[in-house]
Amino acid sequence: MENQIIWRSPSNIAIVKYWGKFPQQIPMNPSLSFTLDRCYTETELSYRTNGSGAIDFFYEGKLNEAFGNRIKKYIGSLGLGFLDHLDLEIQSRNTFPHSAGIASSASAMSALALCLCSLENILFDLHQNECDFKTRSSFLARMGSGSACRSIYPKASLWGSVPSIPFSSDSYGIDWSGELAPSFQTVNDWIFIVSAEVKSVSSSHGHQLMERHVYRSNRIIQANENLIRLVKSLKEGDWTSFIEICEEEALSLHGLMMSSRPSYLLLQPESIRMIQSIRQFRNDSKIPLAFTIDAGPNIHLLFDPVYESQVIEFIEREWPAYINNDLILKDKMGGGPIKMK
Ligand code: PMV
Repeated sequence: MENQIIWRSPSNIAIVKYWGKFPQQIPMNPSLSFTLDRCYTETELSYRTNGSGAIDFFYEGKLNEAFGNRIKKYIGSLGLGFLDHLDLEIQSRNTFPHSAGIASSASAMSALALCLCSLENILFDLHQNECDFKTRSSFLARMGSGSACRSIYPKASLWGSVPSIPFSSDSYGIDWSGELAPSFQTVNDWIFIVSAEVKSVSSSHGHQLMERHVYRSNRIIQANENLIRLVKSLKEGDWTSFIEICEEEALSLHGLMMSSRPSYLLLQPESIRMIQSIRQFRNDSKIPLAFTIDAGPNIHLLFDPVYESQVIEFIEREWPAYINNDLILKDKMGGGPIKMK
């Protein structure tokens, strides 16, 4: 097909976690994330006009029916009538393992949403300004995967309506990069791959289990409080309170999974051992490094790059196998999506 749009869009790591939703992907609580740099999806959307609404989806160069069906359902749910008259071929590839607790749906769905927005702009000759384009892309990305709506922005993004935060919305993420203190302008996120296996319970199912969760109302209170506390820490450049909130959120997310009905557990013994040794190292060295965890067993280590050499020494001493076996994705805060074509 001769017409082609390509977007590269990163994953993101939530500090205050989105967990639980209402219909139409409205979040149960607000969330705030850091946008990653090296963990991204590149999506190529080729289209033919005078088509009949056919969609072929290729993942890593191979026709993938399972992903394709999810994509078709997603695209169908957007109600973009003009797509009925086009044939689409979507090629998607990741720089990291999918469904392993690194938000691959965030990068995949945001890359696709950006392609669809660009397509809309071309076909209707829209001249949207950058801000409107990003809001629209974030809105469309949210319909595919909630967390994807935050990947549209550089460095940090907030999603979910918070009365005291102007322009915050349940419908799309907003750019939070302008609010970060200098000590949060560059943050490393080193991801330790405890397991790259597809997780046993999907995030969609986890969100569903929040509907009747016994801690539901208190989780909403906790996340709202943590969001306000986090915003203050990031604005003031306060790593001490940042670490407290970040780790409380990570462990609460997994606590909610463990206390769901039915209960489930995504952490591995190795994840717990790593958490203990991070806390021990922090106590001993006074170096401000935090862990967070997504929906999986992998540990994200967040720290200011000025501490890189001490962190490397710590890893070499405590977890040499991760270095020797190439099991660390050394990522960092990134500049947001890039249009490749
Ligand atoms: O966007 P979803 O539906 O894949 O849910 C993501 C949920 C978490 O990754 C666990 C937290 C978050 O806010 O990204």
